[in-house]
Amino acid sequence: MYYSDEVVEEVRSRNDIVDVIGSYVNLKRKGNSHSACCPFHHEKTPSFHVSREKQMYHCFGCGVGGNVFTFLMEHENFTFPEALESLAERAGYDLPKQEMSAEAKRQADARTKIKDMNKLAAGYFHYLLKTDHGTNAFQYLKDRGLTDETITKFGLGFSDVYSDDLYKYLKNKGYKDDDLKDSGLVKYDEKHGFSDRFWNRVMFPIIDTNNRVIGFGGRVMGDAKPKYINTQDTLVFDKSRNLYGLNLAKKSKRPGIIFCEGYMDVISMHQAGFDNAVASLGTALTVGQVNLIKRFTDRAYLAYDSDEAGTKAALRALEIMREFEMPARVISLKPYKDPDEVIRAEGTEGMEKRIGEAKSATMFEIDVLAHNYNQEDPQERTQFQKEAAKRLSLISEPMERKNYIDSVAKQYDIDRDSLKEAVTQYGITGATKVDTFAFRDRNRKSPEEEKEQQQLKSERLLISWLINENALFDVLKNMISPDDFFEPVYHDVIKELYEQYNRDGKVTPAAIMNHYQSKEEHEKVSMIMQQDFDMEIPQSEKSKVVTDLVKTIKLRSIEHQLEMTKGDLTKQSELIMAKVKIEKMKPINTFR
Ligand code: UTP
Ligand code: MN
Repeated sequence: MYYSDEVVEEVRSRNDIVDVIGSYVNLKRKGNSHSACCPFHHEKTPSFHVSREKQMYHCFGCGVGGNVFTFLMEHENFTFPEALESLAERAGYDLPKQEMSAEAKRQADARTKIKDMNKLAAGYFHYLLKTDHGTNAFQYLKDRGLTDETITKFGLGFSDVYSDDLYKYLKNKGYKDDDLKDSGLVKYDEKHGFSDRFWNRVMFPIIDTNNRVIGFGGRVMGDAKPKYINTQDTLVFDKSRNLYGLNLAKKSKRPGIIFCEGYMDVISMHQAGFDNAVASLGTALTVGQVNLIKRFTDRAYLAYDSDEAGTKAALRALEIMREFEMPARVISLKPYKDPDEVIRAEGTEGMEKRIGEAKSATMFEIDVLAHNYNQEDPQERTQFQKEAAKRLSLISEPMERKNYIDSVAKQYDIDRDSLKEAVTQYGITGATKVDTFAFRDRNRKSPEEEKEQQQLKSERLLISWLINENALFDVLKNMISPDDFFEPVYHDVIKELYEQYNRDGKVTPAAIMNHYQSKEEHEKVSMIMQQDFDMEIPQSEKSKVVTDLVKTIKLRSIEHQLEMTKGDLTKQSELIMAKVKIEKMKPINTFR
């Protein structure tokens, strides 16, 4: 459904953000601001702020933020139209009945159809499992230790031995060949016509966090290859953005989310009481999946297979976790192969103990390093210690670094002081790349990156000033223009602010948010809007601060234009004059 900007703004302005958020979290009022412990990450002291004046929220702890729409999108897992519809209803506002564009309607219908077919298929497979046709499959699952309750909970099923059984079933339900082709449930080729994608397999329906069946995995009941086949990507199934078992794990009371490799691991874990287990769908962990779990948890455990492939996958997963600031630990399954085996051998208790002893990402990485070197050989041992020191030098928090140095020294019997010295050394020279595996650390930045950050910060701060003191628009309008802002989101924001100010004589920050639909953009914009530095900077300093910001932004903008106009001598000399002027600029009189 598409709604015009006017409708979106109407709905937004009819829903006071403090009231809306206040109905989800317990807001405490302090002056103009309302705060609470952030509902999106775990914390003990409130860093989540809601401003009635700006109609925005922002968490200084985890960076989330936005307007009233963003909040519902994040908190209820709504899409933008869903958030809009829900808020319209809340405010008793009748949304105009609008026709979807023909294409949007076709897509929405196609999606609904696929979900309906999947649901029918899942029901049918589950039904077959309980009939005579499914005797072997049912026995197979029983032999693997699954209870009736587990089989029902996961909706497991059986696809019959005929290669067009489901095809016929769905045709009977009135679906057309074209619909069936889109569903991923059947295949078509000229020679054989239509046939089922899954036959004679145990079926695992894949259910998303809205409890819709989006795809299937199917396992052979013997040693044939391929062991599993999965639904290929369809309009409703994107395997990089879904996790098997998350529909159940999101409701778990257990801390964290446990990542396993396989369907059977997840099922076995849940049956043993670990109802926070999920698995990626036959692919390596993706960024989309980490983002997905961020809504539900503040930490991850990896329970990947203990073989070499599993270890490699875990190292890669840890990198992604680190990049997205998701604290992660690794559960050791040795000497067993996977969680399913551990549970069969040691039961719930054994697994519980292993979770308790899970290694931090750093310790796990160093452990893997240790195994790559022959510790009996002095040269290799030295090499290992150097690599370990490099890894440790990447930890930016001093206390944490010290604690890790202590643990590593103890565990690998390395002289503590020499290890510490080596870590400090690498910390200074900068461990550019740790051999064997690329370890990255978000907190370490190159000088160019630092400069870039500084630039972005200036753009952000100047926008904040303008929002907090609208009168500055008159002062600055002839000095700096939206085109001087480099970061695309900031450029658009400032442009919109200028327009609002020229039109209304004031700005409405929360309305700007309506233009953005991605979470990253909302966070960026809300961070600017929420900045409040009346307390931080005395008025007497204001002129200097604002002047510096203008200078930084203008100079960068001129540099950029110089780059772009190389060869155009007239333009270049104009720019150089402008540059000199800026460099010599006197403090701007900000009081007018
Ligand atoms: P595993 O081979 O570890 O399977 O593959 P598993 O889940 O432990 O299964 P069991 O215990 O042997 O029955 C892990 C995951 O990789 C994907 C599946 O998602 C599987 O659960 N996979 C594996 C495939 O997609 N295709 C395959 O042929 C094999
Ligand atoms: Mn297995």
